[in-house]
Amino acid sequence: MSLPKVSVIGAGQVGSMVAEHLAIKELADVYLFDVVDGAAKGKSLDMMEAMPHWKSDSTLEGYTVGPNGENYENLKESKIIVITAGLARKPGMSRDDLLYKNVDIVKSAAENVKKYSPNSIIIVVTNPMDIMTYTAYRIIGPEKYRIMGMGGTLDSGRFRTFVAKELGVSVDDVTAFVVGGHGDDMIPFVRYCSVGGIPLTELLSKEKIDAILARTRNGGGEIVSYLKTGSAYFAPGISITVMIESILKDKKRVVTAPAFLTGDTGKHYGVEGFFVGVPVKIGKNGVEEIYKLSFQPEERKLWDITAAHVKESVEKVNAYLHI
Ligand code: APR
Repeated sequence: MSLPKVSVIGAGQVGSMVAEHLAIKELADVYLFDVVDGAAKGKSLDMMEAMPHWKSDSTLEGYTVGPNGENYENLKESKIIVITAGLARKPGMSRDDLLYKNVDIVKSAAENVKKYSPNSIIIVVTNPMDIMTYTAYRIIGPEKYRIMGMGGTLDSGRFRTFVAKELGVSVDDVTAFVVGGHGDDMIPFVRYCSVGGIPLTELLSKEKIDAILARTRNGGGEIVSYLKTGSAYFAPGISITVMIESILKDKKRVVTAPAFLTGDTGKHYGVEGFFVGVPVKIGKNGVEEIYKLSFQPEERKLWDITAAHVKESVEKVNAYLHI
């Protein structure tokens, strides 16, 4: 059986979770890459030995990568490459603390992607994710709509969960999304959140909604505070899988994800030349459409804050990479 090839660079918690979902759903043959000797190989073998029970013929393979790009040639002909390699957040550490450490890691992964599989669609997960997506783009570009980040899908899932639990309704009936940077100033977009078509603002008081927004913004931090030695991986794992499924099956799902903003769309969002989370349609070509949200004045203010925050980090990366 031959399935599309999906490679995952970084076989840690998130990378393994995506690999397992893809294999269980028989969506892809999965190739894992990690610097820790034997980690990718051991985990992929373990997952593959579970496949008879899942009735899946997906194949999994793992490779230890070296400082000089050893084994990265096995990325070749990947339809999609997910980059999760990096350091995870520890308690008390903001996503920005990770910036330079993870720039180095993502840069080296991206250089190998460019060398061995330049036409793949790239999903960047490593935090701070909008900035790591930009870093990967600066190395792999110029094709911009094949590169995207994963953040909004995860944050939107958290928003939907908290709304559903507060109202005691099915998560399936809650439509909600989060835009902006994947950081503390992300914007859970209340005005377009609805429950079975009913606007959220008609169902909950402002106080209750504000509490949900705060919890959504702190969703990643809340989990880090419990885990202490790592960050979330169950919800990130499935969120990445949702995006991959939409690309492989050309489902044209509409999710929020950091997409490259430029030209007309960039002008609309007041962003030029970097990635911020916006509603997008994703299909076989990657980001196939970027939707322009019309902001009300209060929303525009929040947007400008989050976009300015991402831009600040983008400038730090430009200086760091001398570009
Ligand atoms: N090349 C390949 N793999 C690497 C490299 C590298 N240069 N550097 C680190 N790794 C690997 C680590 O060995 C580890 O297995 O990346 C993996 C990261 O996995 P975890 O530490 O388990 O982190 P995880 O929870 O999976 O999160 C990964 O996603 O959500 C974000 O903030 C999170 O940036 C973090 C990333």
